[in-house]
Amino acid sequence: MHRFESKHPMKKTCTSIVLGPYFCSAFVAMLIIACIIGGAAMALADPNIEHNSASSFDFAILPQVSQDDVKASLSKISGANACGECHASEFAAWKQSTHFATWSTMHRNAKAKEIAKKMGYTKGIKRNDLCLTCHYTSRWKDEAAKPFAGVSCESCHGPAQDWIDVHKDYGGKEFNIDNETAEHKTTRLEACDKAGMLRSAQVYRIAKNCYTCHTVPNESLVNVGGHPAGSAFELVAWSQGEVRHNYFYSPDQKNRQATADRRRLLFVVGHLTDLEFSLRALAKAEKKGKYLSAMMRRVNNVLKKLDKIQSAHSISQVATALTAVPRREAGDKPQHAGKLKISLSSLTSLIDVADAVSQATKAFANQHDGSDLAAIDSLLPIVADYRGVAQN
Ligand code: HEC
Ligand code: HEC
Ligand code: HEC
Ligand code: HEC
Repeated sequence: MHRFESKHPMKKTCTSIVLGPYFCSAFVAMLIIACIIGGAAMALADPNIEHNSASSFDFAILPQVSQDDVKASLSKISGANACGECHASEFAAWKQSTHFATWSTMHRNAKAKEIAKKMGYTKGIKRNDLCLTCHYTSRWKDEAAKPFAGVSCESCHGPAQDWIDVHKDYGGKEFNIDNETAEHKTTRLEACDKAGMLRSAQVYRIAKNCYTCHTVPNESLVNVGGHPAGSAFELVAWSQGEVRHNYFYSPDQKNRQATADRRRLLFVVGHLTDLEFSLRALAKAEKKGKYLSAMMRRVNNVLKKLDKIQSAHSISQVATALTAVPRREAGDKPQHAGKLKISLSSLTSLIDVADAVSQATKAFANQHDGSDLAAIDSLLPIVADYRGVAQN
C-alpha cells in the first residue's frame, strides 16, 4: 500500500496569488530532454513503479542540449503562481525556502559575481544561461530563457503546460478524489508521466532531479569559476527540512515528515542515486584539479555509506550496484581498500558503471516500499540533522 494513496481532498480554499514577474525555470526544460534521451519502458498500473518516460534533465551530463530542446521545454512552464492557486500551503512553504530566497539574493552575492567574472561572464547572473540552469526557473520569452523565480515548482515537478489540467481532473465534474474510477486514475497518472510530470511516487526520478543540480557536474565551473563542487546532499535530510511540503496527502493537512517507510526508501534510493551521479560527474573530468578530487571523494564517500547500509541490512539491488563499481583491494595500502579503482585515462568507462547503478536503483525502487528496511534506521538522519526548518 502506498502512502500517497490515502484520500484527503485538498483544502477547499484556493487563494489566488499574484506575484509579479514570476515565471518558471530553464532547468526543468532540460528535465524533459533527458527524459527523452534516457526514456525506458514503463509499467504504469502501480503507482510504486518507477515510470521512466520522462526523467531528470542532464544538461551538464549530456554533451549538448540544443536550443530547440531548451525552447520546447521552457515554453511549457506555467509559473509558480499557476500552482499556488490550488496549492496554497505548498506555495507558502516554498516561499520560506532557500530555493525561493535565492531569487532576491544570488545576483547580489559577491561570491556569485566573482564566479561569473572568473568564468568570463560580463552580464548579470540572471542573464547567464549557465547560472540559470541551476539557480532559477525560467520561461521562454523573446527567444531567450527569462528567469522568474529561484528554484520553483516546475524545476522539481516538470514543466506543467501538458499536465497541469490533466493531473487534477478526476474524470469530469461529478468525480473527485474519493470516487475517481481506478481505470481513470491509471490513465490519468499515465498521461501525467507522458507529459513529464514528476510525482511523489517516483522516488528515483525525484532523487535524480535533485542530484542533477546538487552534484554540480561542470568541471570548468568548479576549476575555473571556483564554484562549490556539489552539495553534501543526502535526500532525507535535504528533503525533510525547509524543502518539505507534505500537506496534500496528510490527513489533517499538516506538513508532517515522510513516514518511516518512505524515509528508508528515500535514504537508500538517495545514496544509490548519489553514487550514480557522482560517477557520471567524475566521468566528465578531463584533468587533475579541484573538480576531479572532489568527485573522486564524493564517489568514495558514498561507497562507504552504501557499504554501511549493506552491513546493516543486505539488499540485493545495492549489492548489484556495488558489484558494478571497480574497487581497490587491500593489498599493500590497506587505507585504500574499497576505494574506486580507476585511472585518469579511463574515467569515461564510469558511464557504463553509472548505467548499471541506475538499473539497480530502478529495480530497488520498484520492489521496495521501505517497510522491510527497519534494520537501517540507526543510519538515517534525525530531525535535528534536517536541512533548514520545515513550515507547519
Ligand atoms: C486547479 C487546481 C490545481 C492547480 C492549478 C495545480 N494543481 Fe497540482 N494538484 C491538484 C489536485 C486536485 C491534485 C491531486 C491529484 C490526485 O489526487 O492525484 C494535485 C496534485 C499535485 C501533485 C501531487 C501528485 C502526486 O501524486 O504526488 C503535485 C506534485 C502537483 N499537484 C503539482 C502542481 C504544480 C507544480 C502545479 C503548477 C504548475 C499544480 N500542481 C497546479 C490541483 C491543482
Ligand atoms: C549544475 C548546477 C549549478 C550551476 C550550473 C551553477 N550553480 Fe551555483 N550552486 C549550485 C548548487 C547546488 C549550490 C549549493 C552548493 C552547496 O550546497 O553548498 C550552488 C551555490 C552557489 C553559490 C554559493 C556559494 C557559497 O560559497 O556560498 C554561488 C555564489 C553560486 N552557486 C553561483 C553560481 C554562478 C554565478 C553560476 C553561473 C556562473 C552558478 N552558480 C552555476 C548549483 C549550480
Ligand atoms: C534546478 C536545480 C536544483 C534542483 C532540481 C534542486 N535544487 Fe536544491 N538548491 C539548488 C541551488 C542552486 C541551491 C543553493 C541556493 C543558494 O544558496 O542560494 C539549493 C539549495 C538547497 C537547499 C538549501 C541548502 C542549504 O544550504 O541549507 C536544500 C535543503 C535543497 N536545495 C534541497 C533540494 C532537494 C531535496 C531537491 C530535490 C527534491 C533539490 N534541492 C533540487 C538547486 C537545485
Ligand atoms: C526542490 C524541489 C521541489 C520544489 C521546488 C517543489 N517541490 Fe513539490 N515536491 C517535491 C518532492 C521531493 C515531493 C515529494 C515529497 C516527499 O515525498 O517527501 C513533492 C511533493 C509535492 C506535492 C505532493 C505532496 C503533498 O503532500 O503536498 C505537491 C502537491 C507539490 N509537491 C506541489 C508543489 C508546488 C505547488 C510547488 C511550488 C510552490 C512545489 N511543489 C515545489 C519537490 C519539490
